[in-house]
Amino acid sequence: MAAQGNPFTPAQASASGKVILFGEHAVVYGQPALAVPVAQVQATAVVSALSPAQAPERLEAGIWIEARDLRRRYQLSEASPNDPLAAAIRLTLARYPSSAVPASAPPFALALSSTIPIGSGLGSGAAVCTAAVRALGAFLGLSLSSAEVSGLVYETEKLLHGTPSGIDNTVVTFACPVYFVKGQTNETLRVGAPFTVVIGDTGIPALTKESVADVRRLWEEDIPHWEKVFDEVGDLARRAREAIERGNASYLGELMNLNHALLQTMTVSSPDLDRLVHVARSTGALGAKLSGGGRGGNMIALVKPERAEIIANALRTVGARNTIITTVQ
Ligand code: MEV
Repeated sequence: MAAQGNPFTPAQASASGKVILFGEHAVVYGQPALAVPVAQVQATAVVSALSPAQAPERLEAGIWIEARDLRRRYQLSEASPNDPLAAAIRLTLARYPSSAVPASAPPFALALSSTIPIGSGLGSGAAVCTAAVRALGAFLGLSLSSAEVSGLVYETEKLLHGTPSGIDNTVVTFACPVYFVKGQTNETLRVGAPFTVVIGDTGIPALTKESVADVRRLWEEDIPHWEKVFDEVGDLARRAREAIERGNASYLGELMNLNHALLQTMTVSSPDLDRLVHVARSTGALGAKLSGGGRGGNMIALVKPERAEIIANALRTVGARNTIITTVQ
C-alpha cells in the first residue's frame, strides 16, 4: 500500500448497511454464514482540511470528529480508547508512511452521517467505520484495498462486539453477497435468481456485544449441546447457499424458519421479533427469521416480489418501526 493521489483535498466515502441471511451467532464458533449488503441505508464520511479562517480555535487540536446524527463534535485526542470511530481514524493514520507526513499536514474534520439505525443488526458500526477509513484514506492519498479496509474495520468491531466473527466488516467493505467462514478466505455468494427480502425493524436497539456474550455463557455451560446446535445452523447455511445458487426461493424460506427456531433456543429472539416473524409468515412470506445479534433490531422475511408491499404494511401495522424491501441479486 502506497501514498498516492493529491492528499489533503476533501474526500467523501459511503458504505451500505447489511443483513445476515443465515448463520448469525453460530458464525462466531466457526460455522458458515450468509450476508448481503443493503444499499437502501448508508453511512457517509466526509474529511476536509480546516483552515485558520474557518475555525482558528480548532487548529491547535488537529483532528475533529463530527458525529452528526448523535449531535456530537469532539477531538480525536479526547476520544475514549473504546470509541470505534476514533479507533478507525487512529488505525488509518497509522498506515500513513510517517516519513512522508509533511510538517504542514493540515488539521482536519471527519464528519459522519448515517441512515442506518444504531443497534438494529443492520451493520451500522461496520458501515460508519468503513466510510471513515475510506474517506480518510482518500484524504491522506492512501490506496487501501478492500481487504485492508476490512482488516482495519475488524479491529473496531472488536470494540463494539467483543468477539466478532468478522462477517459485518467483510460484507460491508466488499459490498457483495458473501458466504463467510471465520478465518477463511472471503467467498462471494453467487445468486442464481434474484430474490426479495422484507426487513422489519422492531425499533428496539439491542447490543450485539450482550447477545454474543450471553450465547458464549450458554456454550460454556454445555459445550457438546451448543456445538451440536451450531453444527445444525452451519448445515442450514450450507443448504441455503446451494438454494440461493440454484434460485430455489421456497426451499430457502423453509431454511429461514428452521434457522429462526434454532436462534430462539439460543435465547436471542424476543417477543417483538417473534411477533414480526409470525405476522410475516401468516401474510404469505416464504420464510422469516431474526437477523443479526437479535433481542431487538431487525427480522427478515423472504417474500414473492408481488407480496412485498403487503407484508411490509402488515409488519408496520403490528408495530415494526420501519420496513425496507430489498432485492438480492
Ligand atoms: C452480528 O451482525 C452477527 C453476530 O453473529 C456476531 C458476529 O458474527 O460477530 C451475532
